Amino acid sequence: MDMIAANIIATGTDPDTGYDSFRLGSFHFHRDEYFAHIAWPQGTHIIEIDRFLRAMVRDIGWGFFYGWIFFDDVFGTTNHYGTVDIFAGTYDAGYKAQGTDHLETFSAEVVREAFETISRNWISEGYDPLNSPLETGSPIGPKGKERAGELTRGFIAAERMLGLPGDADVRTEAAFPINRAFADLEFDGPVIECEPGFEGQLHAIDLFDHIARSDVTWNPSITAVTRGNICCVTSEEHMLPVIHGNDRNEWFIQLTDEIQWKIADKVSGLPLGKITMRAGDICAMPADIRHQGFAPKRAMLMVMENGTPGLELRYASGELKPYPVEFG
Ligand code: PHB
Ligand code: FE
Repeated sequence: MDMIAANIIATGTDPDTGYDSFRLGSFHFHRDEYFAHIAWPQGTHIIEIDRFLRAMVRDIGWGFFYGWIFFDDVFGTTNHYGTVDIFAGTYDAGYKAQGTDHLETFSAEVVREAFETISRNWISEGYDPLNSPLETGSPIGPKGKERAGELTRGFIAAERMLGLPGDADVRTEAAFPINRAFADLEFDGPVIECEPGFEGQLHAIDLFDHIARSDVTWNPSITAVTRGNICCVTSEEHMLPVIHGNDRNEWFIQLTDEIQWKIADKVSGLPLGKITMRAGDICAMPADIRHQGFAPKRAMLMVMENGTPGLELRYASGELKPYPVEFG
């Protein structure tokens, strides 16, 4: 589909709630006290406002991530690295069968600006969609004073590795106290013993200490990069507020506690299985599924992504199998 050049337009203010409505291409966005309402030429959809905002600020902060970000089973975005599709029902077997699905393609910059405009207008002080539900206020109700500061706060990206001179810092006690969920852990820190002549070339951090100080959830930060290999860590509590459909393999290493993952077919949404990951478990999420994680208690997760440019095209064409290993 051709790219749509339109920008986001505010279409009016709800006199009862104070929130603005918006139009982007032929998608309309409206919120009331409880819900986000999305409309397109062939259909309409309702998403609970907390879920909608938690998904939207992550989608912005992750630069639309790898492949598909579903806000729920119906609505979401697909990243084509320069352009972004906004879709409704396109990857839902029922909407597809009824012909009520819709997809429009915009420049990534237009979608970023649109989602930021909507989020700023719809988020009031006292609510941070990146926090766990137990650690923030509620987004329901009429518009209050708009939340100030960075929407995507908390996303730390290392160029090579956290804590190297000139690179992003590891979290410190002053700014980020240990989260309540990890109060029982001991943080010894690594001892760096370097052979003479190699001073300054060996680096190590206490990654558990860094993750335990994260004040956000389901928001992976890049801790180390080696060519295309991107190592991200994150603390997880409650549910991943998006369903991720990857355009490549990604690896999960469960560092503490437990996360349960619901796995479904990426294109149709039909359920495929459930994975329970406990501390020490490793799994690969294939390139042809969608997945959503549930963490009953705050857990530490390491996510390994392959950032090799153009990889998505090699999976999409079938040149690469959707899974990384064949057994037997
Ligand atoms: C994922 O979709 O792979 C994902 C997203 C956010 C996280 C963890 C995993 O915090
Ligand atoms: Fe994923």
